[in-house]
Amino acid sequence: AIDSNFEQNREQVGEEDGVAVWGPVEPPEKQGIRGTHVAVDFDICLADGACLEDCPVDVFEWVETPGHPESERKANPADEDQCIDCMLCVDVCPVDAIDVDPG
Ligand code: SF4
Ligand code: F3S
Repeated sequence: AIDSNFEQNREQVGEEDGVAVWGPVEPPEKQGIRGTHVAVDFDICLADGACLEDCPVDVFEWVETPGHPESERKANPADEDQCIDCMLCVDVCPVDAIDVDPG
């Protein structure tokens, strides 16, 4: 599962389209965690898609990660600012790749 203390345990190594990137990032095998309020561990996500389907405010969008061992696309929390903290994505992800930190 994603480390809910990633902000303490990892370093932010950059930003992509306004979404924070938390290392380590060594493409294509290591993609890190994306997002802060809504965080997705790209190295755990296996592209199930339930988060994209179920989020009531469409926070997530697919990004391509060719060559990643788990899946070649990931759910990027592109519109995490829109999140209403319903926690649905956290509940539906089969591999616990998502952390939402209300407040
Ligand atoms: Fe969307 Fe709810 Fe997850 Fe926020 S907590 S990203 S609103 S599904
Ligand atoms: Fe990935 Fe979990 Fe969404 S596997 S696509 S973060 S439901």
